[in-house]
Amino acid sequence: MPNGFDLRGLAVPVIVAPMAGGPSTPELAAAGTDAGGLGFVAAGYLSADALAERIAAARQLTSGPLGVNLFAPQPSAATREAIDKYAAALAPDVQRYGAELGKPVYNDDAWEAKIEVLLDLRPEVASFTFGLPSVEECKRLRDAGIATVGTVTSVYEAEAATNCGVDAIAVQGPSAGGHRGTFDPVAEPNSQPLSELLAAAVARVSVPVVAAGGLVTADDVERVIEAGAVAAQLGTAFLLADEAGSSPVHRAALQDPKFTETVVTKSFSGRYARGLHNRFIDEHEAQAPFGYPEVHYLTGPLRAGAVRAGDPHGTNVWAGTGFKSIRSGSVAEIMATLA
Ligand SMILES: Cc1cc2nc3c(=O)[nH]c(=O)nc-3n(C[C@H](O)[C@H](O)[C@H](O)COP(=O)(O)O)c2cc1C
Repeated sequence: MPNGFDLRGLAVPVIVAPMAGGPSTPELAAAGTDAGGLGFVAAGYLSADALAERIAAARQLTSGPLGVNLFAPQPSAATREAIDKYAAALAPDVQRYGAELGKPVYNDDAWEAKIEVLLDLRPEVASFTFGLPSVEECKRLRDAGIATVGTVTSVYEAEAATNCGVDAIAVQGPSAGGHRGTFDPVAEPNSQPLSELLAAAVARVSVPVVAAGGLVTADDVERVIEAGAVAAQLGTAFLLADEAGSSPVHRAALQDPKFTETVVTKSFSGRYARGLHNRFIDEHEAQAPFGYPEVHYLTGPLRAGAVRAGDPHGTNVWAGTGFKSIRSGSVAEIMATLA
């Protein structure tokens, strides 16, 4: 990594993954860094002003390096007709939770304003998912001393990221919790196992490679480091951390023996993501259209209603395949089990 902060220098080669939508807090990011790894502020769904506040709050909590993760804008895959049809299919959930449907709007998650926040506040690392910055944006960030990381799910995307000029890539395998970073929002996510994808990426690109997806134990971390990764990025492993903002419903479901598996679904957001297999997915997966972020906004109030009702079967409970092995405690305690 020739530019700025070097991921190879972490005392513990573990990145606390950005987790937008609640789990990522300034406290989680700062604790990840203070425990010897690298913590991330997640920009997804926030306004640019709220992002700036979160970065400032994390900076107050640690003097170490911080990463910030942005959702790259993507073309809308939604059609009016498909969204209307899905809205009608969600009527039983509207009734069940006494909630309205949300407005299925398109936006680019305030991309340009967030790039300006990065240039202004200069976190040590900026990572991207769902796509890449432009070559010019990448250069501006690098010129500002920010190390850039592209999230990729295939060798094709890894090469696109390096062509764009990123300083490192984060290879996300199929076991990962939350949204897949796949650039094409309507493509079937790559099912190639992380071990294969990592080996192919390490052989093909000249920048440092981070490995993510289904990693929850010290053995998992050690395996990817031995295979050539410079760090392991873990999300699910930190969902029960004291410093995480995971909702009580999310925390309880992750520890409920009745949930036995995760599945990949587009029913909540119109884009593939992995979470606990629940009723909403069973009832709506077949009807759900592609269309991120429109479907995300359409189902938002329903999901909030389910959380208010304490019902893990009406909301997205993002988790990777390793969720059965995670533990609660402080980030420092969890990090100590991984080092
Ligand atoms: C609740 C949750 C939210 C996530 N949000 C983001 C995000 O905002 N940006 C991002 O790049 N990745 C996000 N991810 C994916 C992580 O960066 C990472 O790839 C994934 O957690 C690795 O798999 P694991 O969960 O099995 O550790 C999220 C994952 C989870 C579980």
